[in-house]
Amino acid sequence: MTKIKLSSHFSGFPMPMVLVGSVVQGQPNFMAVAWVTYANFSPPMLAVSLGSHLTNAGIEEHGQFSVNVPSEEMVKITDYCGLVSGKKQDKSNLFELERGELEFAPLIKECPFALECTLFTKVSLPSSTIYIGEIAGIYAAEECLTNGSPDPQKIRPFVLTMPDNRYWAIGDYRGAAWGSGKDFIRKQNR
Ligand SMILES: Cc1cc2nc3c(=O)[nH]c(=O)nc-3n(C[C@H](O)[C@H](O)[C@H](O)COP(=O)(O)O)c2cc1C
Repeated sequence: MTKIKLSSHFSGFPMPMVLVGSVVQGQPNFMAVAWVTYANFSPPMLAVSLGSHLTNAGIEEHGQFSVNVPSEEMVKITDYCGLVSGKKQDKSNLFELERGELEFAPLIKECPFALECTLFTKVSLPSSTIYIGEIAGIYAAEECLTNGSPDPQKIRPFVLTMPDNRYWAIGDYRGAAWGSGKDFIRKQNR
């Protein structure tokens, strides 16, 4: 495939949307985040890359945060949490909240999948801070499990593409990870 070089300012690949939660001076607050990834195998860690937002203040205050995975029907409220800052508008009553093991990592009941993290370290970049959290708990709605594992077809997360700034549902199952490639190995060894 011939490729055209694009602006390096935009990622171009799909990113899962989450709502990162923290407690800022006693008030739960949530922001939309696309820059999120697992970051360490053992102990399990997760990283979120944040610009300068109110949510950061809560993470810094308590060293705890939550990462909530909204489902497709939560596109509008998720986008709202990305359009409006808690600095201007109270976002503490948008969701029903619950607690896992951590006091300052508010979990959103409406989200079928959620994690709570304790801050392990942070990395300061020119215009963002990467907060790396050790995962203290992972919670999934019972009806979104298949054989005990979180099932994306039941959770129905959505992804963001930039620079077109659009949300997408994820597609169909396409094969086993750490498995589909074995056919290829077999063919090579023939
Ligand atoms: C689709 C979408 C994705 C976003 N992803 C991020 C992100 O990954 N990191 C970030 O710092 N801000 C991101 N934002 C912006 C914040 O969510 C936004 O500035 C929010 O209002 C901050 O809220 P707070 O000030 O209450 O913490 C995103 C916004 C939208 C709409």
